Amino acid sequence: MIAIVNPELDRYVHDHSEPPPALLDELREFTLAHEPRAVMQVGRVEGSLLRMLVALMQARRVLEIGTFTGYSALSMAEALPPDGELITCDRDPEVVRIARSFFDRSEHGGKIRIALGDALATLRAMPASPAFDLVFIDADKERYPAYYEEALPRLRRGGLIVADNTLWSGEVLAPESADGRAIAAFNDLVFRDPRVEKVMLTVRDGVTLARKR
Ligand SMILES: C[S@@+](CC[C@H](N)C(=O)[O-])C[C@H]1O[C@@H](n2cnc3c(N)ncnc32)[C@H](O)[C@@H]1O
Repeated sequence: MIAIVNPELDRYVHDHSEPPPALLDELREFTLAHEPRAVMQVGRVEGSLLRMLVALMQARRVLEIGTFTGYSALSMAEALPPDGELITCDRDPEVVRIARSFFDRSEHGGKIRIALGDALATLRAMPASPAFDLVFIDADKERYPAYYEEALPRLRRGGLIVADNTLWSGEVLAPESADGRAIAAFNDLVFRDPRVEKVMLTVRDGVTLARKR
């Protein structure tokens, strides 16, 4: 992944953003040490952004598509009220096992429910009613449009869809790979969608916020 922002500035942003609790630092370090795909983790600044969005939205119910080792899920769960719920979807039992072991050690872990299996099937099995305040999309890139279409009816009015990696290392300017083309198509879909108000942020690999009207 290339840095969208000048690396020195990125470091400065990192150093001047709210530090996460020690358990999240430990999860980050554990993932870096044991998981070859550690680059997929949202990391400290985006994790803090997600936590703040959940707090600002006063969200009670959050849906996450793409758990991996659990960094973003745990970041968001921290900002949920004690009776809040975060459902996080992943199909990989190995990474879910790591995520669960960290959730079990957190005072916020009880708010998290892991849905193991194909995320699109999990979503489609949920009632198509507006149950969620915030949906975070961070799984297979070709399915972003499908996740978005399934998430929108399940989001309350004024609710927020947050999509990760929407600059795809800058490849969106001239997409070459299947994932790059999928992300570019997703960005066009959201931009043209009158059902949402949207803004793209140059945080990490690009983060899109789409607020349901
Ligand atoms: C980019 S990672 C998520 C990173 C995570 N949000 C974090 O901060 O650590 C994407 C995850 O999506 C999962 N995934 C990919 N395709 C999926 C699918 N069709 N259904 C469920 N999970 C899927 C992968 O197993 C992987 O763990």
